[in-house]
Amino acid sequence: MPVFQFLPFSALLGTLGFLCVLFTGFWAQHWRGGFAWDGSTKMFNWHPVFMVTGMVVLYGAAVLVYRVPISWTGPKLPWKLLHAVLTLAAFVLVVLGLVAVFKFHSTNSIANMYSLHSWLGLAAVLFFSCQWFMGFSAFLLPWSPTWLRVLYKPIHVFFGSTILALAMAASISGINEKLFFSLTNETVPYAQLPPEAWFANSLGMLILVFGLLVLWALATPAWKRPDSESLEAHQPLLH
Ligand code: HEM
Repeated sequence: MPVFQFLPFSALLGTLGFLCVLFTGFWAQHWRGGFAWDGSTKMFNWHPVFMVTGMVVLYGAAVLVYRVPISWTGPKLPWKLLHAVLTLAAFVLVVLGLVAVFKFHSTNSIANMYSLHSWLGLAAVLFFSCQWFMGFSAFLLPWSPTWLRVLYKPIHVFFGSTILALAMAASISGINEKLFFSLTNETVPYAQLPPEAWFANSLGMLILVFGLLVLWALATPAWKRPDSESLEAHQPLLH
């Protein structure tokens, strides 16, 4: 990706990602009572914030590390490490987000894993865990054989995009589900499109645009590191 394209593109993505996190936090703070870590609905409110920040925004940034033009020259190892650290940080947020929702459910005796959202979400998290473990083992451990890296790389690339698509689907279905739960006839029905619904629907659209732009950048051949198929690209940790 030429630098003159990369800078405005990353500024746009950075702004969209920041807005996704800001909107999620503002929704929870302004309409859903704010935050706590005590098993209440305020604890649940950390769930969307950690999930959107970790599995959409930070993960989206982590998968674009190899599209940064300055990463194309010199050794690939520092960029691999950055990719591993950013995805690990995203994973820590995801675990905290899951703790928030499971603790909220258990404290209030709410059933677990019954919704399509929860199935999509868990699938995304399971793929993400396997992807991180496999990526670390194949690409960073020095005793991993070259044939394994060559064989596994297209699978890693495929699941990298798939996980983001699943995270987008989980986030959007989670937003929709939360609005159906919260905006009932006792408050203002969702069908009357109160300001909260407008706001949260817009958050869903922001997540969609952010995720699609990341997927587009990943799929564009001209934006890939030119030597991504060379042996140097398979440089493991400690070599
Ligand atoms: C990648 C993002 C997300 C993932 C992986 C994810 C994952 C999950 C999982 C696994 C559960 C089941 C917890 C249980 O059964 O105890 C859950 C529940 C829930 N999530 Fe998310 N979530 C994500 C984003 C969101 C967002 C953005 C919202 C918006 C508010 C949300 C709202 C909910 C709600 C309302 C529940 C409780 C009801 C249910 O189990 O479906 N989620 N989530």
